[in-house]
Amino acid sequence: DLKIVVIGGGSSYTPELIEGLIQAYPMLPVKDLYLVDIEEGGEKLEIIGNLAKRMIKKYDIPINVHLTYDRRIAIKDADFITTQIRVGMLEARSKDEMIPLRYNCIGQETTGAGGFAKALRTVPVILDICKDIEELAPEAFLLNFTNPAGIVTEAVIKYTNVKTIGLCNLPIGTKMQVADWYDVELKDVQLEMVGINHLNWTTKIMVKKTNVTTDILNNSRESELQVRNIPNLEWDRAFLKSLKALPCAYHRYYYMKDKMLEDQKKKVAIDGNRAKVVMEVEKSLFEKYKDPELQDKPKELENRGGAYYSEAAIQLITSIYCNKGDTHIVNVKNNGIIPFLPSDVSVEVNCMIDSNGAHPIQISTPIEPHIKGLMQVVKAYEELTVKSAAEGNYEAGLQALTIHPLVGDVTKAKQIFKDILYENANFLPQF
Ligand code: G6P
Ligand code: MN
Ligand code: MN
Repeated sequence: DLKIVVIGGGSSYTPELIEGLIQAYPMLPVKDLYLVDIEEGGEKLEIIGNLAKRMIKKYDIPINVHLTYDRRIAIKDADFITTQIRVGMLEARSKDEMIPLRYNCIGQETTGAGGFAKALRTVPVILDICKDIEELAPEAFLLNFTNPAGIVTEAVIKYTNVKTIGLCNLPIGTKMQVADWYDVELKDVQLEMVGINHLNWTTKIMVKKTNVTTDILNNSRESELQVRNIPNLEWDRAFLKSLKALPCAYHRYYYMKDKMLEDQKKKVAIDGNRAKVVMEVEKSLFEKYKDPELQDKPKELENRGGAYYSEAAIQLITSIYCNKGDTHIVNVKNNGIIPFLPSDVSVEVNCMIDSNGAHPIQISTPIEPHIKGLMQVVKAYEELTVKSAAEGNYEAGLQALTIHPLVGDVTKAKQIFKDILYENANFLPQF
């Protein structure tokens, strides 16, 4: 009997996952769905659970929805476990976005010093969850959406025996955008992506077997490739063409650091940070979710940066469950696929998915120096961050922050680290 567990089930994204499960039901006959959360989350779990039950009832699908605060009961004998947790909730995210700004560095949820802080809070909790999985469901797959997804996935790879795959919505978002531009179906689009989470380059775009990469770069279409949480500042056209690859939205923080910093300062002064904006979006989403008449995922969920992540998630679970052998872009152990990175780090690349999990596929395009260089330094930052977060290692953390391109200075790194440790003290048992 197929059992799926969602840790962080009270998240405002959960209705997407439910919609996906309903659509996939013929191929993915889930018997029990456990939504797990922590009591501190207030009434969110109950609101989401009731909406989930209404959605499932509307389509007359026999999935049993269970709500619980007891993670271990949920994990026992599960087949698939997903994690979408936010340790410290949006309050903590807000600090992640503000602390770096004090020192003239970009404050972002997953990228740079903000992502570093999020990693320190999150990795210990995820490793704890993995202990339960090792004990109670050793054969289960852990699909991790929790950010910073690349770092979290790497911590699971390095410190546990849990079978894990890390997931982000950017690859499917890119695919959907390309399909839209060329007015074709999703299945007609193939992408080759190389890199790591939130820093990956699309080096080849095939539409119905034609390579359209240059066409897209020549027509400036990539400026339409947008996610809700990242300002859509104009790229430098000539520079962009020279890359011979489509950068992801997060590349703007690296390639246009100064402009992005100015833009962030302006936005923070007017609307507050992204965490504050998301708090408002969440508030109105939960008001909608409470409505007993509501039986579908509301359109407003598209205002969240992670829109459509569940589509990727459900397709992935279906491919594993049905042993499909198709291709997905996910975060897995490198194992030599990107030859200049260590073999035990996480990378975000094309993988063949079957019932044994995700197997990285050989990369067909050469990896140019501009890609290799940036990827190596940010991966080194990630390796150090994994070590710091998992072991409470201060030295590794200081090195991580100092070499990150968005910090790049030991004096700033020390000040930022000090503020992070102080303001997150309740969530950092390892320090
Ligand atoms: C992107 C990323 C996600 C991230 C989200 C933030 O889509 O891929 O990893 O969670 O944006 O969106 P938010 O609405 O929370 O700012
Ligand atoms: Mn089972
Ligand atoms: Mn992501």
